[in-house]
Amino acid sequence: MTILITGGAGFIGSNFVLDWLATCNEPVINVDKLTYAGNLSNLQSLQGDKRHLFIHGDIGDAASMLQWLRQYQPRAVINFAAESHVDRSIHDPEAFIQTNVNGTFHLLEAALAYWRDLPETKRDDFRFLHISTDEVYGSLDPRDPPFTELSRYAPNSPYAASKASSDHLVRAYYHTYGLPAIITNCSNNYGPYQFPEKLIPLAIHFALMEKPIPIYGDGQQIRDWIYVKDHCTALRCVLQKGLPGEVYNVGSCHEQSNLEVVETICARLDLERPRANQKSYQELITFVKDRPGHDRRYAIDASKIRRALGWAPKETFASGMQKTIAWYLENETWVQNVTTGRYRDWINTHYQAAS
Ligand code: NAD
Ligand code: DAU
Repeated sequence: MTILITGGAGFIGSNFVLDWLATCNEPVINVDKLTYAGNLSNLQSLQGDKRHLFIHGDIGDAASMLQWLRQYQPRAVINFAAESHVDRSIHDPEAFIQTNVNGTFHLLEAALAYWRDLPETKRDDFRFLHISTDEVYGSLDPRDPPFTELSRYAPNSPYAASKASSDHLVRAYYHTYGLPAIITNCSNNYGPYQFPEKLIPLAIHFALMEKPIPIYGDGQQIRDWIYVKDHCTALRCVLQKGLPGEVYNVGSCHEQSNLEVVETICARLDLERPRANQKSYQELITFVKDRPGHDRRYAIDASKIRRALGWAPKETFASGMQKTIAWYLENETWVQNVTTGRYRDWINTHYQAAS
């Protein structure tokens, strides 16, 4: 048996591949376009491992996707591939429409053609697992209950709108054609191998570089943080026990304001890597112009996946953050290698506009 995943050189995808092969021997075909966010060095520890086959490809190329599906005969497709950064979607939404909307459509077409040709027993067991986000549900007020699977879709950024569109396509392929698809909507992930454009790795990186740590607006926006490996266990559980046509929200009930998150990082770095001037990293916190259309609060009600599939996260926010910060301190070369000229161009353009 084999699974095929897309976007497996990115943050969550590479954590998923590493976890998958650490827990079972089923081979993984990993198709990734290697955009700025894709990084094969995340999978360096798998060099020479015959259970992992990397293919440089685009989910928008339906003919190639179908060819690889027919060649490798996976029992499941897991679609991680996406443009994933909200700020980039505000600067330049087109790539988000290309990959997240058109790309998902072409991947669905390929998966449908492949699935229809499978013998009946294999057709019943096949799964198309689409990895989505809580951002499709929009923004919550402070006293609103967390998002459930029945919450109304109300995406507010081009990124969220493109992910919402992809979810709708996946749902339609289940209802119209019977493709055994499942959607997961997860909250904010953090952990090893996250590209330092996202809040947590960016704050660690900027602090260690002695650069101002940018907080948008008043820093009181709330996100519901989950350690990436807990997300990976949830996905394995959904693949094993989830029902076609169902949606599962994934989260671990760790709501924090952005300011609290950055203060936690600063306090930990003060202990682990004190600054030469003996002052706290908190001194570097700098409030900058807010993100346009910034969602105020996300929170996930994960009771369905807990109840129906028996999944539960292992990490608290404190233990997950401790592991994450330790990883970034031990892997400064990884950070140096990804913070190339292209990364610096993005940071300069984006934060100059925000200052
Ligand atoms: P990421 O940006 O780190 O990685 C995306 C990966 O997809 C990269 O390796 C990139 O090269 C690849 N890719 C992009 N376009 C492609 C294409 N057209 N064909 C093939 N590969 C392509 O993203 P991530 O944070 O790992 O997120 C993975 C998935 O999980 C995304 O679908 C995202 O929407 C979803 N998600 C992310 C979070 C989060 O907090 N990071 C939370 C919930 C859901
Ligand atoms: O909720 C799930 C989503 O979480 C995923 O679908 C996205 O792919 C992922 O990028 C993430 O989106 P966010 O916009 O919430 O993540 P980001 O790390 O970009 O920002 C987290 C919060 O921190 C958000 O409120 C914006 C704020 N922020 C971010 C950056 C990069 C700052 O205040 N300063 C910053 O420099």
